[in-house]
Amino acid sequence: MRHKTRTEFTALREKAGMTVAQAAELLDVSLRTARRYDDGESQPRRLEIKALEKIAQNGAKEPPTQFRFIDLFAGIGGLRLGFESIGGHCAFTSEWDPHSQKTYALNYRDNHQIGGDIREFSQDPGKIPEHDVLLAGFPCQPFSIAGVSKKNALGRPHGFLCDTQGTLFFDTAQIIAHHRPAAFVLENVKNLESHDGGRTFATIMNVLTNELGYHVQHRVISSEPWVPQKRERVFIVGFREQTDFDFSSLVIPDPKNGPKLGSILEPHEEVDPKYTLTPRLWEYLQNYKAKHQSKGNGFGFSLFGPNDVTRTLSARYYKDGSEVLVEQPGKRPRRLTPLECARLMGFDRGDRRFKIAVSDTQAYRQFGNAVVVPVVEFVAQAMEKHIMAALRKAEIEPAGIEAIRSVTRPDRMPMTANG
Ligand SMILES: C[S@@+](CC[C@H](N)C(=O)[O-])C[C@H]1O[C@@H](n2cnc3c(N)ncnc32)[C@H](O)[C@@H]1O
Repeated sequence: MRHKTRTEFTALREKAGMTVAQAAELLDVSLRTARRYDDGESQPRRLEIKALEKIAQNGAKEPPTQFRFIDLFAGIGGLRLGFESIGGHCAFTSEWDPHSQKTYALNYRDNHQIGGDIREFSQDPGKIPEHDVLLAGFPCQPFSIAGVSKKNALGRPHGFLCDTQGTLFFDTAQIIAHHRPAAFVLENVKNLESHDGGRTFATIMNVLTNELGYHVQHRVISSEPWVPQKRERVFIVGFREQTDFDFSSLVIPDPKNGPKLGSILEPHEEVDPKYTLTPRLWEYLQNYKAKHQSKGNGFGFSLFGPNDVTRTLSARYYKDGSEVLVEQPGKRPRRLTPLECARLMGFDRGDRRFKIAVSDTQAYRQFGNAVVVPVVEFVAQAMEKHIMAALRKAEIEPAGIEAIRSVTRPDRMPMTANG
């Protein structure tokens, strides 16, 4: 019998307290490759040894996968980053925009393909793998103030009556109904709460609470304590079982101590001159503002300096950048660069780089649509122990998960956006 010698890989792996499978996951190699390293049949690369060494030195392995989540309407993965920070493993992604898919694929290494249109999956939710937590930042245009006024101006329906976008909440609900995850987090614009005199929100809460039987709470959180941007979003958190989670008692850090714009700006000399507004656009924006101010309206551009906190970055930022212009002493103002947007949204920061390989227009759209990552981290951390407790409980009492396999969609629901 051939005597197996202990390899450096095995020694480090054991010191790190990892199984071969965990090491394979860490190094992003197949189980077969990790076994070959372990058996000394092939040599790991230097970088792989280094990664193991780091964990072995710290005397602990990377946070193990604690639970599985799915990332719906994933955009560029803002919700995902937040739930990965507490040990979640992404088991499924749905995002239909090819440019967002490109950014997503570049920043997250997955063993699953990105799924496209969610409706394909809500019609057949069995195609989605089992998961413990469902994350969904369902499209906000049907409910956002800007989206609603635009649709009103064009005489188009908004909210749930907007057929292409408004009903996507029900697709999400259909998936929750089928899989009954231990918890979910839905995220949307603050205006969702007041849209259509509160009826839209009441419908959503009714489906989640009464039809699906979840314990649901919501809270509007602004991002100012974490990033130099005022961005208010409503987070709807649901647990399948009763928990002690209390959203209202969570202490949100004081926004007064939050960072200021100067902390995320690139050095002046490194900013490409293309981001400075052209004389024509700058003149247009000033005239536009003057015209509206004379009528008593507050519309127009907003200028910010290094000591300020910006307005909300929107998905239309690529058009003229007017909502967040950076002052440049002695010069016309400029737009934020895509990297600065990544920082303003908390995707790129000291401990994390975020890769951008799409056009500026697409990058602005993606960041303007996204969720502020540290806000999600905050919510995820608050939920962590309740998620874990729910999973332990489900292991002991699996029968407690009763099946509700469908929800009432708006065509059958009297309480739609029109009341
Ligand atoms: C508000 S954004 C969510 C952004 C995300 N939370 C993030 O941090 O990047 C909504 C996303 O849903 C996607 N979307 C809209 N309709 C969809 C559909 N039918 N299927 C899949 N994705 C869809 C949009 O392309 C957009 O990226």
